[in-house]
Amino acid sequence: MALKTIDLTPCIGSMVETDVATLVSGAASAEICELVQSRGVLVIRGLDMDDETQLAFTRTLGPVLDEKSGEVYKVTYDPRESPQLYFYTPGNFFWHIDRTDSQMPPFISMLNARRLSDTGGDTSFANTYAAYEELPEADKALIEDLQVVHKVEASYRFVPNLSDEQIAAFRAHEPKVHPLVWRHRNGRKSLITSTSGIEVIGMAAAEAEALLQRMIDWATQPQFVYRHRWQLGDIVMWDNTGTMHKAEPYGEESGRLLHRTTVLGDEPFDPERTLAA
Ligand SMILES: [Fe+2]
Repeated sequence: MALKTIDLTPCIGSMVETDVATLVSGAASAEICELVQSRGVLVIRGLDMDDETQLAFTRTLGPVLDEKSGEVYKVTYDPRESPQLYFYTPGNFFWHIDRTDSQMPPFISMLNARRLSDTGGDTSFANTYAAYEELPEADKALIEDLQVVHKVEASYRFVPNLSDEQIAAFRAHEPKVHPLVWRHRNGRKSLITSTSGIEVIGMAAAEAEALLQRMIDWATQPQFVYRHRWQLGDIVMWDNTGTMHKAEPYGEESGRLLHRTTVLGDEPFDPERTLAA
């Protein structure tokens, strides 16, 4: 079947027009998996899915991540809703790839807008395949074999007023090393850029930090970015292996609440190292 889609920008993001029955039946699942990889982000508007329906749809796309809090994860910045999430949420305000603290990141993340903020709260996505492909050849040569150290605490280095408890918890995560260039099994390459990236193996600290920031700045130029302005009930899903994302800051009192489901990944950041391990 061919789904009806409308491109939201030339490089990233498509709106998909469909209905709940089609999504939950799985009849379109192969096409959706292909589309989310080729377009980076898919938006489905106006279906108003409850948790059960969102989960049923997510399951048609692959095995679903079961977090400590269950398969539906509430994304909020309201300490009354969840002190645990309040603790981690400000890291979402900076460009990142989810779970760079693992070797095998999630494939698809899906957000369902249940309550909106009056101010802020847009979510932006950047296409890291296109950003790599458009790099000047000299930069491609420069970064080709670089290995980057990612730390959870680095993801929060621009967040003001962290508590001692937060700092200790972030430091407790073990650093991970990932290549700067992701060699995918589809034959394409993308950038593994994220605020968590803080050191480059064999490079002086200041030079490394400047290079990593330059790569993030490059990848988040307007031509590579789609910024989503939420409407209630919006479903937004993205390929976490070919995009970065961030949320525009919103207030603790804003009430913003998104329900997230996640499809497990099966493509490691570094296939060679993961297979050798
Ligand atoms: Fe995220």
